[in-house]
Amino acid sequence: MAHDHMIEMLDLDAEVLSDYHRNLIAVVGAEAGDHPHIVDLGAGSGTGSLALARELPGARVTAVDVSPEMLAHLRGRALEEGLDDRIRTVEADLDQPWPDFGPVDVIWAASSMHHMADPARALTAAREALRPGGLLVIAELDSFPRFLTGTPDEPLEALVHTEADRMRHEAGLHMHENWFDRITEAGFSGVSEKHFEIELPGPLPRAAARYAEVSLGRMRHRLEGRVADAQLAELDKLVTGLGTRDDLTIRTERTVWQGRR
Ligand SMILES: C[S@@+](CC[C@H](N)C(=O)[O-])C[C@H]1O[C@@H](n2cnc3c(N)ncnc32)[C@H](O)[C@@H]1O
Repeated sequence: MAHDHMIEMLDLDAEVLSDYHRNLIAVVGAEAGDHPHIVDLGAGSGTGSLALARELPGARVTAVDVSPEMLAHLRGRALEEGLDDRIRTVEADLDQPWPDFGPVDVIWAASSMHHMADPARALTAAREALRPGGLLVIAELDSFPRFLTGTPDEPLEALVHTEADRMRHEAGLHMHENWFDRITEAGFSGVSEKHFEIELPGPLPRAAARYAEVSLGRMRHRLEGRVADAQLAELDKLVTGLGTRDDLTIRTERTVWQGRR
């Protein structure tokens, strides 16, 4: 995976869908108490860790990821924003036995649970890591952002997503797990689920066009050899032209679950 584009894509998601991300942070803010220790599982480029530290001035965040590149980027951003005294990074493969994080008030996992080889085992580990009464928050994508709804290119974008879904399935990612049931089975109580349907009409800010370019560009790259050459050529043309279009919109669906140890 090209980490540079992945990092840019995650950062753009947080920037372009800032309202959704703020809503998500508010969930923790309302539930976590004044000085929570939050563990961000699969923290990636740091969108969650940084926003949590920014929005919750009393919080300490432990950002965990298997990727040293992601964590280096996250540390750089924490330093730039003056949040480095409250964010520490831990490099760990969460498919292996977890490090001891110390007492944990909140476990936050945004778009990362589906990466776990064995989600049931990861949820059990999350429960064991939390203090009694501690909060688990899981956010997942029901659908990746669509940018071309209602334009003549909608079918081509749909084809890209169909193929990308197939690839995720082949790679063993747990994209459409029943997280409500998994979380309940892992022994959490008071499990709740909130669904977000996000629709941003045009005209969109410049960052949204860049987000479209990066995400469709990454998917196009991965479709090499999987779709016909003519379709790849059409896609190249589409991706190249995205930066100057004024008919882009964003549609994506996400769900957030909470539970208590
Ligand atoms: C889609 S990104 C989500 C990043 C971030 N939470 C966000 O919402 O922007 C998933 C992250 O999970 C990490 N990850 C995947 N498998 C992992 C594992 N077994 N242990 C630790 N981190 C893992 C990846 O390196 C990546 O940074």
